[in-house]
Formats: sequence, C-alpha cells, structure tokens
Amino acid sequence: MIDWQSLRDHAIGAAAAAYAPYSGLHVGAAALCSDGRVVTGCNVENAAYGVGLCAECTLAGQLRLSGGGRLVAVAVRSGDGTLLMPCGRCRQVLYELGGPECVLDTPRGIQPMSSVLPDAFGSADLP
Ligand code: THU
Repeated sequence: MIDWQSLRDHAIGAAAAAYAPYSGLHVGAAALCSDGRVVTGCNVENAAYGVGLCAECTLAGQLRLSGGGRLVAVAVRSGDGTLLMPCGRCRQVLYELGGPECVLDTPRGIQPMSSVLPDAFGSADLP
C-alpha cells in the first residue's frame, strides 16, 4: 500500500532544502523504496546554470547513500505543493533505479514509468 499523501508531504518538505537562487523554483522529490523507507532529494542550482542538479538526481544519491534498493513510488512537488513532472533526463535516472514498474504521481494520476518513459533505453540494451 502506497501512502501517496505522505510521499507528497515528504517531497514538499524536501523542497524547503532546495538551493535555487537562479530559477526560484524549489523542487522536492520523495520516493518509497523497496525496503519501505522513504528517500528525498532537492534541486541544487549552480552559477554555471547547466550543471545544476535536479531534485531527482540528489534523490538518486540519497537512495544509494542510505542503503540502496529500488524505487517503488515517486512524487515530485514544488515548495508550494504544485505537482511537477520529472524532466526527460530525470525520467531516465528514475527508470534506472526503479524500472518500468516504478509508479509516479502525475497529472494523469498514478502512472508507471513505462507510461512516462515509453520504449525506454535500459541496461538490457547494452551489449
Ligand atoms: N528541476 C528539478 O529539480 N527536477 C525536474 O525534474 C525539473 C526541473 C529543477 C531544475 C532547476 O533547478 C529548476 O527546477 C528549474 O528548472
């Protein structure tokens, strides 16, 4: 059973830690992991704009740093609670760690990664 409201709240809480002096968009991501714990991430921008980190990327680091496992469910929110979709790069990052069955909070309801990143490139495509 996935407590989506709790995941959304964790994402909003994580957005409070964002470092976003350039865009002003504070983003938080939260994920339920395969062992039941919740990991979070926030965006970390940079004066060299292109090297800024999305919230999903720092979440990926937190997943690995706090015990690994797989992503089961992910929610992304701005600090004011607005639902945000992961950018294209972050969909690939989430796909790597959650696979096609990982579910995401979207404007179309709860959707699997296979729906938000169809025909994904993945490890099976490597020689
Ligand atoms: N951002 C994220 O953190 N995740 C996304 O999936 C989309 C965009 C951040 C990057 C940047 O710090 C800010 O939102 C504006 O693009």
